[in-house]
Amino acid sequence: MEGEKTTTTKVVAPVERVVFALNGERQEVAAADVEPSTTLLEFIRTRTPFRGPKLGCGEVYISIQLSPLRKRMSGFHASQCGFCTPGMCMSIFSSLVNADKSKKPAPPKGFSKLSVSEAERSFLGNMCRCTGYRPIVDACKSFASDVDLEDLGLNIFWKKGDKHPDPTKLPSYTLGGGICTFPDFLKSEIKSSLDFNDASISGPREGWYCPKSIKQYYKLVNSGLFSESSVKVVVGNTSTGIPELSAIVRKDKGIEIGAATSISRSIEILNQESE
Ligand code: FES
Repeated sequence: MEGEKTTTTKVVAPVERVVFALNGERQEVAAADVEPSTTLLEFIRTRTPFRGPKLGCGEVYISIQLSPLRKRMSGFHASQCGFCTPGMCMSIFSSLVNADKSKKPAPPKGFSKLSVSEAERSFLGNMCRCTGYRPIVDACKSFASDVDLEDLGLNIFWKKGDKHPDPTKLPSYTLGGGICTFPDFLKSEIKSSLDFNDASISGPREGWYCPKSIKQYYKLVNSGLFSESSVKVVVGNTSTGIPELSAIVRKDKGIEIGAATSISRSIEILNQESE
């Protein structure tokens, strides 16, 4: 939450350091060393050797080491202007992880438990303005355990018209994506940060406040630290933050889904309920 005043009062405790994971490696930054308005993208591009992450819509950026997925997207010529590619990669990634978590039988080596029909449904809601759906779907289908490789379109892994494409030519894939999505050291950092009620970082122009509950949020908003119009509420964090915003509560008349619940989690819960 950004506010116009820079004074830290008793309502919040100042944050001394920010810890995060970059490609699984621990990064620690002194809070006094960065402006509170610095975005993660800006930090990565200017303060680390990595220049790969790009600015997308201005609110969100995605950069995950999705090696086999990235290579297959590229090898099936699935990225044209690249505008939709991060979202497509995230959709494919979550479909692979969800499929591999299922109780389906183990797939052949190098494949996912994902089926071709699930692969085709992975992109519902993702728009590609370059009309590149066929190669994108092919890249996703290449992970499916029931795929007929001969059906897949032009790619760099085998020659066009090859009657017996060799699956080992595809960039190797390990079940579940082989990716650690949340390093253990961050879990313990979060656990120790829960000892604090609230947290804040103040800069010369603006401040960053991190309430840990809805009650604390209202306490902060009504504290007189800033006017309502100067506050921007940001909830770009679906794994930690205010727990009530990620809660899913079953009620007599339906299900209440917290505003910060991820779409994939919501779909998972609604599927479970419908079953
Ligand atoms: Fe351009 Fe999809 S590659 S929008």
